[in-house]
Amino acid sequence: MNESIKVSAPGKLMLFGEHAVIYGNPCIVTAVDQRMEVEVRIQSKKGLLIDARDVGVADYFVNFNRLGKGKRTLKGAKFIEYAVKNFVKEYDNCPGIHIKTKSDFSSKFGFGSSSAVTVGVIKALSLLLGKKLSKKKLFSLSYKTVLDVQGVGSGFDLAAAIWGGTLYFVTGGKQITSLKKGNLPIVVGYTGIKAETSLLVKQVAGLRKRRKRLVDSTFNLITEVVREARKDISNSNYTGLGELMNINQGYLETLGVNTIELSNLIFAAKSAGAYGAKLSGAGGGDCMVALASGSKMDDVKKAIKKNGGKVIDVKMGAEGVRVEK
Ligand code: PMV
Repeated sequence: MNESIKVSAPGKLMLFGEHAVIYGNPCIVTAVDQRMEVEVRIQSKKGLLIDARDVGVADYFVNFNRLGKGKRTLKGAKFIEYAVKNFVKEYDNCPGIHIKTKSDFSSKFGFGSSSAVTVGVIKALSLLLGKKLSKKKLFSLSYKTVLDVQGVGSGFDLAAAIWGGTLYFVTGGKQITSLKKGNLPIVVGYTGIKAETSLLVKQVAGLRKRRKRLVDSTFNLITEVVREARKDISNSNYTGLGELMNINQGYLETLGVNTIELSNLIFAAKSAGAYGAKLSGAGGGDCMVALASGSKMDDVKKAIKKNGGKVIDVKMGAEGVRVEK
């Protein structure tokens, strides 16, 4: 048996269908080429030792029988701890392990560092301990971990970390279909504001409780957008996709998750010639995405910067979880 293994999993960007996907609807997500590296090493001391210095966790030790039980579990270690807990429960007889993580991206961008780390930990453990895990099984263990830690989530980010590329995804992995391979001409602008996904999900749930028919009708319209976007991605119809981004953005405004900072960057990108633009993810801050032709790309980037945004250079459609040398 090998003593150690290193894997990496990509971050993600939601392209279409956020929020609606929590309620049984489809979305489109793409994996980005910024990755989370997870190294797992077997150690003599039984239990789990974590070093996740990007999120302020160093030399954090937990006994296997205490996994997920500590009252003061460090936030940055939670996903790792629960991922190991779920793995150990499924495949007992796990030796002592030391897990080190290193991220290409900051956890504040909303690129899915928690989902990438969860997938990375379970994948690495399965390879190191010789347990065969299908992608579906890796998804279900990872999804259980995310629900254990944060209670809500569609699992779209885990699918991106596992399958990579650009995916059509339905809640809880009911359908996961790979769309066209490769990059999409998308500029990503960060507002500088960290959004709390679970709060925004709760906010939309509250609105739905008060206005069920209006919100469910909006979800149905978003589902239409996602279906049309799926076709336009397959045909590389960028004018069509840009238009669909603008329509989707209108529905996100309806759901109340847009902010002035996101709007400023979205309008700046459109004025600079983008085919279309929208917020990406839960809203309330984090990132917006703009689709632009090659000749307009630089103008769109400049406009985002001029309006207070930070352009994050990433490529879409990145490879899913893989072993690193
Ligand atoms: O904020 P992000 O990028 O993690 O995206 C959240 C997307 C939601 O649909 C609001 C939540 C989910 O789990 O699907």
